[in-house]
Amino acid sequence: MGEQSNVVSGARQVLESNWREGRNGCGQEYGYTCPDPIKYPDQFFWDSCFHALAWSRFDPRRAMRELRTLATGQQQSGLIGHTTFWSGPCRLARAFTYNVLDRTDFQTATIQPPLLAYVWAEVAERSGDAAFAEEGRAVLTRFHAYLDRERADADGLIGILQPDETGLDASPAYDAPLGWRSHPKLGFLALLHFNRRRAYDYRRIVADGGFHATDVLVNTAWILAWEGLARLGVAGASRRAHQLTLALVKRLFDAERGFFFAEGPAGERLDVSTWAGLAPLALTHLPVHIGRRIVDEHLLNPQRFWLRFPVPSTAASEPSFVPASDRYFWIERYWRGPTWLFTTWFILRGLLRLGYDAEATHLVDRTTDLVAQAGFREYFNPLTGEGMGARQFGVSTIVAECPALANEVLAGQRAIA
Ligand code: GLC
Repeated sequence: MGEQSNVVSGARQVLESNWREGRNGCGQEYGYTCPDPIKYPDQFFWDSCFHALAWSRFDPRRAMRELRTLATGQQQSGLIGHTTFWSGPCRLARAFTYNVLDRTDFQTATIQPPLLAYVWAEVAERSGDAAFAEEGRAVLTRFHAYLDRERADADGLIGILQPDETGLDASPAYDAPLGWRSHPKLGFLALLHFNRRRAYDYRRIVADGGFHATDVLVNTAWILAWEGLARLGVAGASRRAHQLTLALVKRLFDAERGFFFAEGPAGERLDVSTWAGLAPLALTHLPVHIGRRIVDEHLLNPQRFWLRFPVPSTAASEPSFVPASDRYFWIERYWRGPTWLFTTWFILRGLLRLGYDAEATHLVDRTTDLVAQAGFREYFNPLTGEGMGARQFGVSTIVAECPALANEVLAGQRAIA
């Protein structure tokens, strides 16, 4: 209990000290939590979603402000990009690798897992603020219309044009189709150049034979976001979430292996087991028998994902699995083995939804121990618990949300929805 309350108060301190607020050059007000003061000073889309969930346990007004700031950054087209640069243009050192057309752009032209509507609904419910829910409907309907128009296939699933759009930058899932162009190899710059010349226009990139894929995590977030729109009262959103879940199963679930895999540019199955294949566990409409297979055959398998500090970003059985720091020359390669806590939240929801109470409690306890032992690091070695990367990482504060969510569900106070 002592350990848990220390971790919860530590989470609050990290959120407070990473908080940034002010006015940008155009007079727009902002207030958000940066992922880390040194490494990531800007606003990152999916990090902000997690920051808002964590904030909502301490101070729902800050959670609302964080999400409103994402909304303030919404472009004319409806896009809310991967990174927004509130306090000046992106750093010179990053200008080559960030997805901007010009260094002075206030936001990138690419996406991250589009979870926002889900989080907006959750925060609206926790704060009980009806006006906030109303505001969300307008912004999010435009954002969803953008993704439908610019990214959706006939079955409604959306495509990505670079692996960093999945939030899992160097995920081994995309090693095969990208080869020398995979992050952070030199050819990645060629991929960026190809996409930049096409103004990051997905339809144009696909037409010109560029890299693109249908990613499991991005589409899981997309479906959760439709579930969120339904909770915000948008007509037809619930039906859409249901249809999209069926489409996800039809297209990306490998019935033989009992696991979800991404689809590459030629429609091929990219059968590297990463945690993204577990993420659909979080979906309300995922058929229970599929959920159970994923949990029993993969998640709880100690040779694959159920390591000492679960859940690793890549299955331990994969040749590409690297549990410790992985560098290509001096550049860090992310998401090839270590545990990030973005993941924990998705998996925890799935375990709770499917009634794996003991396993859910175990995951919460291991995560609490991990942060108590290593601090609010960016990612962790799943075998030893050693912390790596940023030292004051915002998303690791989700360690405060996880036990609260588990307690509510296990005490019967709420269902997972
Ligand atoms: C890394 C992660 C990405 C995250 C960002 C900021 O690029 O791969 O998921 O959003 O850091 O934390």
